Amino acid sequence: MDTMRDNPIQFISSIFCLIILLSAGNTTAELPRLVQPPKSDGTLSFLVVGDWGRRGSYNQSQVALQMGKTGKDLNIDFVISTGDNFYDDGIISPHDSQFEDSFTNIYTASSLQKPWYNVLGNHDYRGNVDAQLSHMLRHLDYRWICLRSYVVNADIVDVFFVDTTPFVDKYFVEPKDHVYDWRGVLPRHKYLNHLLTDVDVALQESVAKWKIVVGHHTIKSAGHHGITIELEKQLLPILEANEVDLYINGHDHCLEHISSINSGIQFMTSGGGSKAWKGDMNKWDPQELKFYYDGQGFMSVDITEAELRVVFYDGYGRVLHRWSTYEKRLYSEIYSQ
Ligand SMILES: *[C@@H]1O[C@H](CO)[C@@H](O)[C@H](O)[C@H]1NC(C)=O
Repeated sequence: MDTMRDNPIQFISSIFCLIILLSAGNTTAELPRLVQPPKSDGTLSFLVVGDWGRRGSYNQSQVALQMGKTGKDLNIDFVISTGDNFYDDGIISPHDSQFEDSFTNIYTASSLQKPWYNVLGNHDYRGNVDAQLSHMLRHLDYRWICLRSYVVNADIVDVFFVDTTPFVDKYFVEPKDHVYDWRGVLPRHKYLNHLLTDVDVALQESVAKWKIVVGHHTIKSAGHHGITIELEKQLLPILEANEVDLYINGHDHCLEHISSINSGIQFMTSGGGSKAWKGDMNKWDPQELKFYYDGQGFMSVDITEAELRVVFYDGYGRVLHRWSTYEKRLYSEIYSQ
């Protein structure tokens, strides 16, 4: 990955070539794919942060500082952002000072100078979505990677990024005084149907040992927003049918782990990048709710072929919760020998 840091231009252009290559010649829609090489020993590690862009305020800078330290300890390969990248209303243009003030000048540690794979949150949709998707941002800060929905192939793991904001009815039905940028999303039913099919196909085609899906909105959560019913109805069955290992989201400004009793999916909320919602929590089945923290922090994921480990930290690096699992298919391979 050092070559990537040394030569950001080459990194950017290789990504564009890849997108163009993979989208050309495909008559059916297919999610754009990016390739993320693992470490030379085949393992990967990354951090996850969500709901962060507040020009350093609400402990955003403190969380960033600690991410830099933890990122160095874990020798991370990349960072995932679960959306709500810029408060309150996204960015207005690629030249919006928010981009520097809330991203470039905040996450300054050398360990964080890696690709940042972003999704859009509902607050990002209140600004100029095209600006956040714009190639201009990559010229300003080569780490920035933001597409609506896409797949990152990292050998032992495939990470599927899903644009969840257009699923939520209330943003369309009762937007209140918020203005959402739905350019590229309308007609909505068509956009959602294509997206669900594309995600399903991409998951089915995946040959990676591990499958992780990332979206901004919650599917299961004891936080303020709770369950996103539209995703529970439409996206969850696809994740279950394809034996996804983790669903990672933000939106609720907390850190949380729910282990589904009905499926093997672990639901991880990492939405503690800045302003946290202290004390704002609903009831959840204690058998499923493994961890809930209503302050700031972030999450790390370590992956080997055999094991996936998740750790949650507060803004001072204190470990709050650990969870790990062994790969299901590994057991069946052993049994069949
Ligand atoms: C910043 O973090 C500290 C320690 O967790 C907490 O006590 C404080 O309330 C936080 N400040 C804000 C503005 O969230």
